[in-house]
Amino acid sequence: MRVWVPYEEMLDDLSASANKVQGDLYDGGAVPETIDDVEFYVVPYMSGAHTFELVASMPRLRVVQTLTAGYEDVLPHVPSGVRLCNARGVHDASTAELAVGLIIASLRGFPAFFRAQLDGAWAHERRVSVADRTVLILGYGSVGRAIERRLIALEASVVRVARTARPDEGVFGIEDAGPLLADADVVVLALPLTADTRGLVDAGFLAAMKDGALLVNVARGAIVRTEALLPEVEAGRLVAALDVTDPEPLPPDHPLWRCPGVIVTPHVGGNSTSFLPRARRLVRDQVDRYAGRRDLRNVVA
Ligand SMILES: NC(=O)c1ccc[n+]([C@@H]2O[C@H](COP(=O)([O-])OP(=O)(O)OC[C@H]3O[C@@H](n4cnc5c(N)ncnc54)[C@H](OP(=O)(O)O)[C@@H]3O)[C@@H](O)[C@H]2O)c1
Repeated sequence: MRVWVPYEEMLDDLSASANKVQGDLYDGGAVPETIDDVEFYVVPYMSGAHTFELVASMPRLRVVQTLTAGYEDVLPHVPSGVRLCNARGVHDASTAELAVGLIIASLRGFPAFFRAQLDGAWAHERRVSVADRTVLILGYGSVGRAIERRLIALEASVVRVARTARPDEGVFGIEDAGPLLADADVVVLALPLTADTRGLVDAGFLAAMKDGALLVNVARGAIVRTEALLPEVEAGRLVAALDVTDPEPLPPDHPLWRCPGVIVTPHVGGNSTSFLPRARRLVRDQVDRYAGRRDLRNVVA
């Protein structure tokens, strides 16, 4: 069985495994000559569309394993008969940490303090705490739960919203989100980009949020209609903290960059030191399962 992985460390893991696996390194650069034989393809992490398009040139392919939790961009390239597995779980801690970091930074006014620091100005003032705020998490999945655990430690009240209501778990369905939005001080997006969620956060959604509320997006940029968000943040009625944007990357002259009340991070939710060790564990386990003809984890298509 031939496996392509994007990191030397993953190749070492394959060599150390008891399975008869032949590994090649493909990190998005030069394409290995073994493309006709690859059966299990670990797509390089956030390395561009050409790494998905390559799937069409792999005649023996059986499994595509992404290292991202989101898979909307690779899905259209996966032929029938090939399983697609995502990296659900790998990024939870890192992304939740960033989401909570963005909430704290925005509510406590870190950007204004950083600007004042540049001028040597002691800008003492009272800011909003996370404690006692109501945070609505839209997308109560793997990442959403990890965000909740951290927010509870900060003494916030969490409202859970998913696609489907689960009253026994205290989870509201998306159809009930309208009135809940009006009570939330912070709305965190942690849901996948699908046909149903593209543009979900439109002018009506934003209008339903309370004055001064914070929108945090650690999901995918296109879930939010940027053209609807811009007037809300430009007017100062809402504030926002965006790890993902539409368009992405955000061009240098985009008005979101310079909007007061907006914090932008360049899609780094999952990209921290916790990524590679967790990604290696997932890939090792998945290759073992595949070689042992056991069920794969995280099969999404
Ligand atoms: N910024 C980053 O670097 C970064 C890192 C990791 C993940 N992400 C993004 O976060 C997303 C979520 O990841 P995950 O691993 O937590 O996924 P997950 O475990 O599959 O959870 C997704 C959650 O979203 C909900 N959902 C799906 N469609 C919905 C809809 N139409 N309306 C409302 N809720 C909906 C699901 O509801 P049900 O429970 O009812 O199905 C589920 O609760 C990923 O798809 C990815 O795009 C971003």
